[in-house]
Parts: sequence; C-alpha cells; structure tokens
Amino acid sequence: MAGQTTKIEAGPNELKRALGPVHLIALGIGAIIGAGIFVITGHAAASYAGPGVVLSFAIAGTGCLFAGLCYAEYATMIPVAGSAYTYTYATLGSFMGWFIGWNLVLEYLAASSTVAVGWGGYFNDFMNYLGHPVAAQFASAPLCVATDVHCSTYTPNASALDAIAHIGFTGTYFNLPAVALIALVTIVLVVGVHLSANFNNLMVAIKLSIVVLVIAAGIPFVVHANQTPFIPPNTGTWGHFGWSGVLRATGVIFFAYIGFDAVSVAAQEARNPQRDMPIGILGSLLICTVLYMLMSYVLTGLASYTTLNVAHPVSMAVEQLPATKWLAPIVNVGAIVGLASVVLVLILGQSRIFYAMGSDGMIPKLFCDVHPRFRTPWKGTLITGLFAILLAGALPLDILGELVSIGTLLAFVIVCFGVMVLRIMRPKVARPFRTPFVWIVAPLGIIMCGAMMAWLPLDTWLRLGAWTVIGVIIYFVYSLRHVKPTRWKLEDQKPAAQAAE
Ligand code: ALA
Repeated sequence: MAGQTTKIEAGPNELKRALGPVHLIALGIGAIIGAGIFVITGHAAASYAGPGVVLSFAIAGTGCLFAGLCYAEYATMIPVAGSAYTYTYATLGSFMGWFIGWNLVLEYLAASSTVAVGWGGYFNDFMNYLGHPVAAQFASAPLCVATDVHCSTYTPNASALDAIAHIGFTGTYFNLPAVALIALVTIVLVVGVHLSANFNNLMVAIKLSIVVLVIAAGIPFVVHANQTPFIPPNTGTWGHFGWSGVLRATGVIFFAYIGFDAVSVAAQEARNPQRDMPIGILGSLLICTVLYMLMSYVLTGLASYTTLNVAHPVSMAVEQLPATKWLAPIVNVGAIVGLASVVLVLILGQSRIFYAMGSDGMIPKLFCDVHPRFRTPWKGTLITGLFAILLAGALPLDILGELVSIGTLLAFVIVCFGVMVLRIMRPKVARPFRTPFVWIVAPLGIIMCGAMMAWLPLDTWLRLGAWTVIGVIIYFVYSLRHVKPTRWKLEDQKPAAQAAE
C-alpha cells in the first residue's frame, strides 16, 4: 500500500532519521540553485543561446524531470543511502553498481569543488569591495590549462587535447577561500546532519528570497529590445545561436540542475522516505525550473545578452538600470550564501554514497563508521572533505567543471534504464511511488540526457574514459574481492498485490 513504511532499525552504524519533507525540498534546492544560475547562465546566453536560454532551461528541466520521476520510484523502493549507486547495485549487479558509484564521485566530489571555486571568486570580489583583498598568491588555483591566457603553458588556439596535456602553473600557491569553505562545511557535516539541515534551511531561505526578489523587482523593468529577437539568428556554426545554440546551451546550463538527486542520497536519513522522497525530488526540481526560467528571462531582459559573459552576470545585469541597481550588493551576498549551501549538500551526498559503498565492501569499511555521538559517517565525511579540498585548492573552474556534467548525465541514463529493467524483473515489488507512463518517461529521460551528453565536448568524453579505466582497475583489484551481496533485498518487501489488499 502506498503509505507502507519500511522499518530500518537504528543499529550502531545506522544514520539518524531526522529529515522531513520540508528539509528534503530544502536539501534539493540547496543543491540545485548555485553556480549554474549565478555564473553559467550568463556564459550560456552570451555564447550560445541569447535570451533563448530561457528555453534551454525548460528543455534541460524537462530532461531532469523525466530522470527525477525515475529516481523517485527507485528512491522509494530502496530507501537507503547511496542514490543511483544503491539502486544500480540492487538491480544490475556489483560491477554496474561500482561503475555508477564511481561516476557519482565525479558528480558530487568534483561539483562540490567546482562550486567552491566559483564561491571563491565571489568571495574575493566581496573582499575587494570591503577593501581587504585576499593576497593574490592565495586567491586562485596554482594549476591551469594551456587555453588559459594566464597559464605558463598558454598556447593560442590549443586543441582540447593539447589543453589537457599541457597543464601549467599560474604562479599562485592555492585557492584559500575555496579550501576554507570546504573545511568549514565538512566540520558542520561531521557535527550532525540535523544541524546541517537546519543550517542548510537558513541558507536556502536567504538564497531563495534573493532569487525571488531579483525576479519580482526585475520583471517590470525588462527591456523588450534586449530580447528581440528572442532566439538570435545562427552565425553559421552549429551551436552558435539559433535553435542549435539553444540546444548547445542546454548541455551547458545542465550544471544548474545538478543536485536534485541529492535528495535521494539522503533517503536513509528521511523520517518517511516512501512519502517524502518524491515530494523532495520533484518539488525541488519544479520550483527550480520555474525560478530558472524567470531568472534568465529577467537577466536577458535587463542587460543585452552580449554583455553577460562575466563572472557575476546577475549583479552585472541589475546594475544596468538605475531602477534595479540597488539589488547588486544583495545579489552578491545571495550568491555567496547560495553557493555555500550547494557545497554543503554535495559533500553530504558524496559522503553518503561512500557510506553506502563502504557498507557493501566496495571501498574500505572506515567510510561507514558512524560517530557514536553525532551519528554521522564522520570518517567518510572527513575524507570526502579532504579530497574536495585538494581538488578545489589546486584546480581551476574550467578543469573541474567539465568533469561534472558527464558523470551526472550517465548516472541519470542508467537510473532511467534500471527502472525499466526492474519493472520487468521485479514486477510485483511494492512501489510506493510509481513513475507515471514509465515506458514513455524513462526512454525520454534516456534520450534527453543522452543528447545532453552528446553535446558535451570531446575532452570531457576523454576524461570520462580515463576515469572509467581507473575505476575498473580499482574494482578488479579491490572491490571484487571484498564486495558483499547487496544489502537491499527487494524481495523483503511485500509484493504490490498483497500490499494493496
Ligand atoms: N546545480 C548546482 C549549481 O548550479 C551544482 O551550482
């Protein structure tokens, strides 16, 4: 029956069930709204889609919605930590489980570092504004790629392959603001998920208020000349404006949606996962899609899209008109708070995926040691924070950001695939939430997420290949020898026919 709750006893290594539906929606929004809307939208509008970026958000949001509906079915059938990793292991076996878990590391760990680096940019600017600039040696990453004009290996017109092969130095030591943010967030997460959730609720409230304020204050001043034509004509190159530009931008702004699946990662800490998971996943996704479309409409309405390719497009746009100029400092504070909450949810997600993988023996057991007092997987969280610090301290946004999307999209494709496999292999298992029109929704999710993958550049695919090779080696050298049968037995649940009686 729909409301049936699976009891999971709180053993010494069980997480505390502290999260309700509002916490979960806030967790989703906390992960979703961040560098994507505050930074990447401007780049997508200026380089690919113009005001048509509003449509790109609608298309990418629809693809995520299909994947989200599949996630929700999975999350309610298997309400334990681990997200797509756990679902895949339970349905498609240990190798595929490992494969997806390994890719989720790209999503969560690399994304948390990416957003922390973006946050560092806003923070540096804020400190400049206050008259206390961060020393240049500690303000940015020491490593860079050959396409970066400030890089020691700068090569004009370097190909994607050359850019990866020729990693150089900027002359700085490390990115102190990004490192400090991750360290702080890691401590908050170790101390307790309830504290983290409350802290997160506060940050999400501030971030949401500022996004809504910009939309409400900006809409009356939208300059229609800035949005005419709404889709600028194609320049003759695929992906540069026109409808192909709208599609190309979809792959770019997809980053803005990453994170809604973080809700499912916290399933083991939800008070009533069967009811609250779909509410958390779909609620946060729908709210963010509407906000993104409105926000990008305002952005491209206040300033010409040609001027938006800057590090702070939102504050830059509101500064264009005297009537909205007062919003600029508020927007900057919102970005600082907003990006910090994204980092929090992403590190939370990564530590829970490691927790699930550790419980299965895929990685060493210490990743699932729960702190006796805080009831959080503290060792896994500290290790996650340490890796995130290393990445964020050393690498720039362009290297990091490209690693993120492809791993996420692959996870989405596999979840959509897995939900159909499960409908065939385990048709009688109780499904507290059933993906509506699954035979249409899941294939559409695969097609849309697959298309967004296809639009990503070649070097991203090469990195995915390299990452996969490393992962496969670890699987055969370590995981295969230690892995235990999946903890989640779908047969343990009442079959749907009985449950409905
Ligand atoms: N969706 C998150 C962001 O935009 C990762 O920052």
